[in-house]
Amino acid sequence: MPRSTLILSLTAAFFAAPAFAEALDSGKLLTDAQAVLAPLSPPPVAKDSLQAVRAELGRRLFFENRVSMDGNVSCSHCHHADKQATDGLPKAIGVFGKENPRNAPSIFNAALNFKQHWRGDRESLEEQAEKSLLGPASFGNPDQATAMGKLKAIPAYADAFAKAFPGEQDPINSKNWGTAVAAFEWTLLTPSRFDAFLAGDAKALSPQEQAGLRTFIDAGCGSCHNGAGLGGNSFQKFGVTGDYWKETGSRTPDKGRADVTKNDTDLYVFKVASLRNVAKTSPYFHDGSVEDLTRAVKIMGKVQLGKTLLDNQAADIVAFLGSLTGGVPANYSAPEPYPDAPAK
Ligand code: HEC
Ligand code: HEC
Repeated sequence: MPRSTLILSLTAAFFAAPAFAEALDSGKLLTDAQAVLAPLSPPPVAKDSLQAVRAELGRRLFFENRVSMDGNVSCSHCHHADKQATDGLPKAIGVFGKENPRNAPSIFNAALNFKQHWRGDRESLEEQAEKSLLGPASFGNPDQATAMGKLKAIPAYADAFAKAFPGEQDPINSKNWGTAVAAFEWTLLTPSRFDAFLAGDAKALSPQEQAGLRTFIDAGCGSCHNGAGLGGNSFQKFGVTGDYWKETGSRTPDKGRADVTKNDTDLYVFKVASLRNVAKTSPYFHDGSVEDLTRAVKIMGKVQLGKTLLDNQAADIVAFLGSLTGGVPANYSAPEPYPDAPAK
């Protein structure tokens, strides 16, 4: 590259990056990281056995496709075990092949989010699960009675719901569906090597991952991606220092929360994405417009912080983000489905 361009790109970089081979002060890195980021606590131990029974029912419901209008869509249709609970598509495809307006995020660790969905238009896991049943591009039921009728037609659910919601007259209802599915989702936390690092094990991260964490903190990523989820706990504008769609190439910019609140101050505001498992959840952003994680990281630097990340800085951050990949929980798998009612 010509010298002038080189100088330009160097001055545009926000600071001289320490080569990761250079010894990093791991002790200071740990204290700095602990100031903005938090380890994942293990899933809360079920206070009572009822919670465990509900989680087990929720697991079954999560993998139940007979509750959708075409009989083919379960929650797992768009949140696959082999894709860290995403679907690998820019925009999810639901009942009768209908496309969703947005990308399917991972539901691992979603229990930590302060609101659900990219635009925060669902208050809780319970509300999210309940309303999914009616989504025209998810399960497609015209009303909850139709959805519940489909569950009631499968004989074994009567007993399963009665055990999970004892003493209720009509336990197969959409509120209980939401409660059970949410209880299951609470079991889907995925601690990773990064949590071991935060707990004080400096060797849990490689030198390059540590350099990436250093850059992540120094660049200011942690001002939005903080806490145990490294995000998921605030709303922020996507495109603080420039229009996001000019960088992502999104064809029809999504107005974000403004469409939910009808308030102009929420224009292009989205929930800060959690970065747990992000190395496995391509494509990125609410519209799945960016496939490559390095590119997504550089776009973030540019439009959120007004900083140009050098190639090695972005590569280090990507290495660090890889340390946030946790194992797929053992119970994230379909149980043997309950048999259909015998034909009359
Ligand atoms: C047709 C595909 C599809 C199906 C089926 C589906 N989801 Fe999703 N899920 C999505 C998409 C797309 C989003 C993002 C929606 C948005 O933000 O507007 C999402 C978002 C979520 C979120 C919020 C995560 C976050 O970080 O904000 C949770 C939790 C979730 N889904 C759980 C479920 C559960 C539970 C079910 C079954 C009751 C389900 N999903 C069924 C596609 C799907
Ligand atoms: C001012 C707040 C803010 C800052 C600073 C910020 N981000 Fe983000 N980040 C967001 C928001 C909001 C989103 C969701 C954007 C959307 O709607 O698609 C996001 C999304 C992401 C995604 C995509 C996640 C996914 O699952 O699609 C990655 C990766 C990411 N940020 C990394 C970073 C990195 C690395 C930095 C520092 C260079 C950074 N962010 C700085 C707010 C911020």
